[in-house]
Amino acid sequence: MIYAAILAGGKGSRMGSTDVPKQFLELDGKPIIIHTIEKMLMCDRFEKVIIGINPDWKSYCEDLISKHIGDNDKIIVCAGGADRNGTLTNVIDVIDGINGIGDDDIIVTHDAVRPFVTKRIIEDNIDAALKYGACDTVVPATDTIVRSDDGEIISIIPERSRLYQGQTPQSFNIKLLTSSFDALTDEEKATLTDACKILVLKNHPVHLVNGEVLNFKITTISDYQLAKAMLVIK
Ligand code: CTP
Repeated sequence: MIYAAILAGGKGSRMGSTDVPKQFLELDGKPIIIHTIEKMLMCDRFEKVIIGINPDWKSYCEDLISKHIGDNDKIIVCAGGADRNGTLTNVIDVIDGINGIGDDDIIVTHDAVRPFVTKRIIEDNIDAALKYGACDTVVPATDTIVRSDDGEIISIIPERSRLYQGQTPQSFNIKLLTSSFDALTDEEKATLTDACKILVLKNHPVHLVNGEVLNFKITTISDYQLAKAMLVIK
């Protein structure tokens, strides 16, 4: 079976002070997270679309879903975790609780704050995860990326043609992901910033899926302004 996980457990601290976490800010009359849920529902291959939300905002989120989407038995809202991977773990526990995890089951994980994901990107993720077991959505780096180890001077300028910016979805065979995570040492777990890194640390290939520049993450106030401007132009 194929599942969607919408990761919405964050507080959006880099957005600055807003009344609600950034995933609930409005875009074109609807909260950002509703746009994202609607994108996932466009794909009829999902068994369930599971949203991991900060427990303080769970009933708020459920009310928004009732208002903007209505009853939909594909949607499940669950509590998020202390960090992004903790939210993903909670979503996988929900899947395990309802259906168990089959050998071929896959999960398409997506940031709640990337509302401009396309059906093509979602379908390509499903196909790549079914074929290879793991994939990441990326766009080629267009700016030169400079590494500085001390924040003062350049340490290295990696060759741009080999650099990509990671987006989401990131999609996995669920058993492969959980067994790889369980095999990490505590030190390795402490370095995780991203679910794909779990497989990279275990030397399992993670295939690349072409993203879109417009599938950006709404992180700061300027990202939010850009997102609003895009919908005015539409
Ligand atoms: N996320 C999550 N669970 C957490 C933390 C983050 O599901 N405990 C989700 C966010 O809700 C977001 C996605 O991961 O959809 C990408 O993270 P980021 O943009 O860093 O979101 P926040 O953690 O909310 O933002 P900030 O780092 O500015 O506080």
